[in-house]
Amino acid sequence: MNPLYEGKAKRLWATEDPNVLRMEFKNDATAFNGEKKAQFENKGRLNNAISTLIYGFLEKEGVPTHFVRQIDETNVEVKKVDILMVEVIIRNFSAGSFCKRTGIEEGRQFSQPIIEFCIKSDELGDPLVNDDYIRELALATADELAFLRQSALKVNQILIDFFAKCGLKLVDFKLEFGRLAADPATIVLADEISPDGCRLWDLKTGEKMDKDRFRRDLGNVMEAYAEVLERVKEATA
Ligand code: TMP
Ligand code: ASP
Repeated sequence: MNPLYEGKAKRLWATEDPNVLRMEFKNDATAFNGEKKAQFENKGRLNNAISTLIYGFLEKEGVPTHFVRQIDETNVEVKKVDILMVEVIIRNFSAGSFCKRTGIEEGRQFSQPIIEFCIKSDELGDPLVNDDYIRELALATADELAFLRQSALKVNQILIDFFAKCGLKLVDFKLEFGRLAADPATIVLADEISPDGCRLWDLKTGEKMDKDRFRRDLGNVMEAYAEVLERVKEATA
């Protein structure tokens, strides 16, 4: 059997239900749009555990998501969606490509969250786009775009508070959304929420607890992910 789709960190498999897929978390890690690659033992398990707990929490807080249930250590069932080809990045503090683009030092707190949209394309390097590009490329309708903004801000507020309970600062993160296959008028949060797609800094020490440890060769990558899981477990217990 072949996966329906294989991405850099996950595979999607069909199930008996045409509206439900199995999403498998791989141990592969990539950075810089796939230029840098590695494998980390337990990464799939850790990200699945973290993402499953966070999705459960978001659902409880009233955020509609693709999540159905956890199957095992590295697999979950998700509602089949048509992923929007626009990724949503939310920034609370300066880091990463924001610093590169602006020359501003890392760690500056923004007066309000910054929302960015990027085209989901490794070949193009996930280019930053604005509302007019999104309209002309038909990546989302104006109503959908308004919904993405509003949802991203809501998820951001929920996650800032959630990660604060974990002793972590939510610096920035990436969200993906999809139209439900069973009801394309409904958009839900999709993909994963894990240290792969979030920047998380320890509130006390400032230590990086996310994929920047891999991007920047800081070491102890999975140790940091495991620590995030322990804290997320405690916060959701
Ligand atoms: P950036 O600073 O590289 O633009 O990334 C901002 C946040 O979004 C960071 O937490 C990493 C996440 N992200 C992804 O998960 N996947 C991506 O393809 C990109 C560009 C960013
Ligand atoms: N997610 C992208 C990649 O895997 C970019 C990044 O996280 O640095 O290449």
